[in-house]
Amino acid sequence: MSYQSVQKVRVKVPASTANLGPGFDSLGMALNLYAWIDMAISDQTTIQLLGDQMNGIPTDKTNLIYKVAQMVFQEAGVVYPELEIAMYSDIPLTRGLGSSASAIIGALAGANALIGNKLTSYELFQIASRLEKHPDNVGASLYGGIVVAFWDGERAESIRIEPDVNLEVLVAIPAFQLSTEKARAVMPKQVSMKDAVYNLSHSSLLVAALSTGNLGMIRHAMKDALHQPYRAELIPGMKTLLEQAEDHGALGVALSGAGPTMLALVDARSGQKDELEAFLKGTLAKEGIEAETLWLKPSQEGVTITLLQENDGDLQSRVEGGVLV
Ligand code: HSE
Repeated sequence: MSYQSVQKVRVKVPASTANLGPGFDSLGMALNLYAWIDMAISDQTTIQLLGDQMNGIPTDKTNLIYKVAQMVFQEAGVVYPELEIAMYSDIPLTRGLGSSASAIIGALAGANALIGNKLTSYELFQIASRLEKHPDNVGASLYGGIVVAFWDGERAESIRIEPDVNLEVLVAIPAFQLSTEKARAVMPKQVSMKDAVYNLSHSSLLVAALSTGNLGMIRHAMKDALHQPYRAELIPGMKTLLEQAEDHGALGVALSGAGPTMLALVDARSGQKDELEAFLKGTLAKEGIEAETLWLKPSQEGVTITLLQENDGDLQSRVEGGVLV
């Protein structure tokens, strides 16, 4: 197959929330909080990390973005060992907002664009699911909107749902980090048939509610028996939020991915937005947990690519000029 390589690309990739309560490892939603990656084929590898979110991330060839880009080249049968990479992100790390999935999708899409999109989006989704193991975050960052997906250890499949125009998302991001490994380690290895059926029925109903815009059904459907009851012990205040957020104006409430961020779905027309935000913050504060709240929307778009020209500013000048869109 012939293809043309391009000089330099800028990738914009959304954050994501996984599970949405009952859809453990299978339901995700892209959020309008973004990371940007500039990538160019070069004769010497340089990795520039911009902003406050990047502390501790390596800047040598062990960097995740560099390594994932090399996987794309390998899969496509080309050799470009040296890359110029710059990254800026508004997505907090290790908080349950899919920062690593965003990095993987950004690197896959950027490297693929550099070689003229030799791989399809579907192929990128397969690689990303193999790397992340959970297709919910990577699917949402890749395709945007709401994504229903599976990964069976060999292949991943997904369908995208258009988010309802009135859907808003309130997240409360605790100041502490929680690794996915730790949040998965507290879960039981086996579950009862009763709990399995509980989640099947609630997750199916939630997908139907989100597909049909039946926002009133979310409060009944967004309930989980597989992971949240166990993870609640890691996040003081979570149990109260799960039990009471709907009384304060949420359509539904869940742990975002593996946490510790808590997420409420909200009807944009609700008159209780301030009340809900105060309830989330106040409940966590009572437990001594400082949390930042953010009002977000589902991101309609997944990863997007711009081919950069000579006179386009570099990522650093864009960040410093406050002109990243
Ligand atoms: N579905 C995953 C979990 C999300 O809840 O552990 C984190 O990748």
